[in-house]
Amino acid sequence: MTPTRSADMTLTTRSAMTWQPDVDAFGADFAWGAATAAYQIEGAVAEGGRGPSIWDTFAHMPGRTTRGDTGDIACDHYHRWESDLDIIRDLGLRAYRLSLSWSRLQPSGTGPLNPVAVAHYRRLLGRLKEIGVRAFVTLYHWDLPQPLEDAGGWPARATAYRFADYAGLVADELGDLAEDWITINEPWCSSFLGYGTGAHAPGRSDLGEAVAAAHHLNLAHGLAVANIRHRRPHVAVGVAHIVTDLVTASEQPEDLAAAARYDANNNRMFLDPVLRGGYPVDVYELYRAQRLAELVRDGDEATIATPVDFLGLNHYHQLIVRHDPTVAHLQASTTPAEPATTSLRWSVTPESLRRVLVRVERDYPGTPIHVTENGASFDDYVDHSGQVADNERIGYLSGYVQAAAEAIREGVNLQGYFVWSLLDNFEWAEGYSKRFGLVYVDYHTQTRIPKASAAWYRDLIARHARAVG
Ligand code: FCB
Repeated sequence: MTPTRSADMTLTTRSAMTWQPDVDAFGADFAWGAATAAYQIEGAVAEGGRGPSIWDTFAHMPGRTTRGDTGDIACDHYHRWESDLDIIRDLGLRAYRLSLSWSRLQPSGTGPLNPVAVAHYRRLLGRLKEIGVRAFVTLYHWDLPQPLEDAGGWPARATAYRFADYAGLVADELGDLAEDWITINEPWCSSFLGYGTGAHAPGRSDLGEAVAAAHHLNLAHGLAVANIRHRRPHVAVGVAHIVTDLVTASEQPEDLAAAARYDANNNRMFLDPVLRGGYPVDVYELYRAQRLAELVRDGDEATIATPVDFLGLNHYHQLIVRHDPTVAHLQASTTPAEPATTSLRWSVTPESLRRVLVRVERDYPGTPIHVTENGASFDDYVDHSGQVADNERIGYLSGYVQAAAEAIREGVNLQGYFVWSLLDNFEWAEGYSKRFGLVYVDYHTQTRIPKASAAWYRDLIARHARAVG
């Protein structure tokens, strides 16, 4: 038996009762959800025919993650998925965003899908359907099968075609069980952290490789959209981009130019090709030495611009950008906006969510949006009464949900909102040291304890349901 605590999740503070965003702004079908990703929660890395991904390899290299943490066991969700889905049901979530492990489904990155993995995900998605929860399925959340990395990884153009093939096979085998599909999560992180700074898997540090990876991830997305559509014309397909709110340190021309470069790299290099038909001129200029123009072959931009049904927007915080000649790549550096009170020193600035949503509506008008990730890490702990009173997280989430309501009132076509994350989990290079969950995980016993924020979110969703009748 999974030691899942069915605590009554009563709110433990009076002040929490006042954290009530304006739910009237959200449509009747609004997708209130929470999100996870395969490598961060599943564990069972050598079971059911799963092969290694770049994150298995990277996490096992000395010194790459905090305390040498790995996803070997993580939340053991591969074995505990049924009781974890009970938590989703008990919270009244309308939607759940999960990712599929590519190296579980297709261990070598080519060839037919692994039937054990297909059966596993069919059971999981089938159960979500049964309990009336809308699944948003991400095909790639950073866990490239190691054999594809060995063949060149994302800097190799062939990887984009491998991904498109995988997407098509998954659409064949699982496409009947979910209406909402996300091709790739945060190509910026995969390319610039994975191949540029080396902070993430596979841990390479070469700007040219990062730029090539970025283009091939974008291309992989476009090819996959077409493949999924071809097989499943009725599902909705999108991509999840991280959109960070950038503020210039001053009105000095050099700070303004630094912020524009930063924005070109982090945001427009990914949003424009999908939603505007091509890379902006300043992105081509920024990466002239890395030969972006040569990497982009005839027809690539049209492929990447294959229409999507929605944009998944991941958003957390605000950064202040200034000119900094000591930083080779962008000649720009950032500091967090204040208050930077989360345990990652990311800012708690609800206004930043309103700003990025309004910005996307301004730059790419009419795009349906789901906030596919939003949340915060705090040093949560189980108190003497066995509860986790994460009032800071309730404060964070209520501010950001209110900001989302304001964005809708300003005309943004927002259709869903997903808290990152359902469970505390393996936070990439930070290992288990950072907790983002609505539900606390005791990694020694795998006990789940819904935090006060889980009760707050459950009540918010219920209040919205009453408001829309
Ligand atoms: C995002 C990732 C997600 C999680 C959050 C905190 O960039 O997509 O997996 O790590 O950050």
